[in-house]
Amino acid sequence: MTDVNTLATPLRLPCGVTLPNRILKSAMTEGLADAADRPTAAHNTLYERWAKGGSGVLLSGNVMVDRRYLERPGNVVVEDGAFHGDLKHGQFLRRKVAEEIRSRPAV
Ligand SMILES: Cc1cc2nc3c(=O)[nH]c(=O)nc-3n(C[C@H](O)[C@H](O)[C@H](O)COP(=O)(O)O)c2cc1C
Repeated sequence: MTDVNTLATPLRLPCGVTLPNRILKSAMTEGLADAADRPTAAHNTLYERWAKGGSGVLLSGNVMVDRRYLERPGNVVVEDGAFHGDLKHGQFLRRKVAEEIRSRPAV
């Protein structure tokens, strides 16, 4: 299959996950974090809209590991010390994004 319809076909990855299609939203910086470099409701809205758009993969934008070296104001920062309940900040963020995406019928 070599035509554009290939993009709409599922793709099984070696890890066992099957992507619903071969369209990937590349990484794009969001600049939507709050003044403490935390993700905001605007991230939820943005990723919800991208998920509804139907891409098989959504790559996140910049997630910085050291707040001294931002790519721009509004970057999300994940430093080891931050916790949300029992979860490290990075685990929390990944879980929230995964939950949002899995709640969409297109994925
Ligand atoms: C963390 C991260 C953030 C990025 N942010 C942007 C962005 O805001 N705007 C943009 O045009 N490309 C951004 N890029 C680059 C694109 O995701 C993409 O890699 C680039 O456009 C090249 O795409 P191509 O390989 O399909 O040509 C970012 C890349 C990374 C890794």
